[in-house]
Amino acid sequence: MSEKPKHQLFATRIGVIAATVGSAVGLGNIWRFPYEAGVHGGGAFLAIYIVFILILGVPVLCAEFALGRSTHRNVLGCFRQLKPAQPFWRIIGIIGVTSGIMILSFYSVIAGWTLEYFFVSLRGDIAGNSTDELHSMFGAFTTGMRPVIWTIVFLLINYCVIVRGVQKGVERASNVLTPALMVLLAVFCVNSLMMPGAADGLSFLFKPDFSRITPSVVIGAMGQAFFSLSLGLGCMLTYASYFPDRTPLVRSAAVTVGLDVFTAIMAGVLIFPAVFTYGFSPQEGPTLVFEVLPAIFTQVSGGWFWAPLFFFMLFLASLTSTISMSEIGIAWLTQDRGMSRGKACMLVIAIAMVCGVACALSFSYWAGLRLPVIGEFNIFNFFDYTSSNVLLPLGGMLISVFAGWMLDREVLRRQLTTPRNAFSSLASVIAFLLRYVSPVMILVIFIANL
Ligand code: PHE
Repeated sequence: MSEKPKHQLFATRIGVIAATVGSAVGLGNIWRFPYEAGVHGGGAFLAIYIVFILILGVPVLCAEFALGRSTHRNVLGCFRQLKPAQPFWRIIGIIGVTSGIMILSFYSVIAGWTLEYFFVSLRGDIAGNSTDELHSMFGAFTTGMRPVIWTIVFLLINYCVIVRGVQKGVERASNVLTPALMVLLAVFCVNSLMMPGAADGLSFLFKPDFSRITPSVVIGAMGQAFFSLSLGLGCMLTYASYFPDRTPLVRSAAVTVGLDVFTAIMAGVLIFPAVFTYGFSPQEGPTLVFEVLPAIFTQVSGGWFWAPLFFFMLFLASLTSTISMSEIGIAWLTQDRGMSRGKACMLVIAIAMVCGVACALSFSYWAGLRLPVIGEFNIFNFFDYTSSNVLLPLGGMLISVFAGWMLDREVLRRQLTTPRNAFSSLASVIAFLLRYVSPVMILVIFIANL
């Protein structure tokens, strides 16, 4: 039997799926995937990303689920409970809490952009503009003070949800939103497929040009695989600590991974035909999607209706993701540090607000600011790159070493199999990947990048 939980659990099976999918699906799929794929050459990036999802993402997700559910503890408490005499493993928790707050900071900036575009499109201000006008509108927005205000507003909204607790806040929010967003995405994919640039867009996304693979493409794809599955920082571990014992872990992992990859590919199919139709550069980076989406919405009939709806859903999808990244630190502070939930939420949001404002200013007043240790990055890029491409894979590597080598084999097997449906051979494949494949692969990629 696993440890008796000392806190609330997710009430229903659908609640478990809604929460994990809600965490996984978000700006990572719709904003970050197209921008990273664009920068890293499209098809080759997509191909490597999918390989990483399968051989790193799936096993590490199962490991996080097994660790969280078997201990019912937070990302630091879990390792303290399993290996009390080996404090080294708590480093996983430290990486997790730190990168959770780092991601929350820069992610809130982009979520703030979705709020701006929700209101702008609701007022009808993007309708009837040329691509150039939209471009200068976006430039004027990002270089002003409004992104800072939206970042703060978004974090306050996030605070109001998380302070209400695990079940009420998270479960209800995720239940309807994620499916609705997917339907909307599918509708717009069809629209993109009818654009004149569709063939170019699709061949950019789906035709891998393997000569373009460089170490930076590989590390970018690995980072994206971890980022988009909310992996390597104990986020899924923390959520799994709220799973009831009857939740089938491998099946839940499969559903989460499937929907996550599907959403990313849909976002690519939505964005790239438009990129080539309207003459954007796929290499534009973090601003790409926010330039392309308004251009799409000014062209479709009923854009005045679709645009605010889309940005609103994107905002909600971001919220279900930021709820999950906030929970990592909050679970630790409340379970291990004896803090009240209210105080813990306040602390996490306060730190994220300070860092988030710095990230928001990286598109304007601090665009040229380079801190000594950060080198070529501005603050936003530093937070984005370091957390996704360094800390998450590092955390993922340590988690797979722990689950593969340190965790009692029997515990892992029991967590990954269900009494009615013995996935035992699948569990052995996962255990094998965790022991021999994922850690070595991540290490090799890190070394190759030095
Ligand atoms: N997976 C989320 C997304 O794709 C981002 C995220 C990263 C959420 C890390 C939680 C933890 O948007």
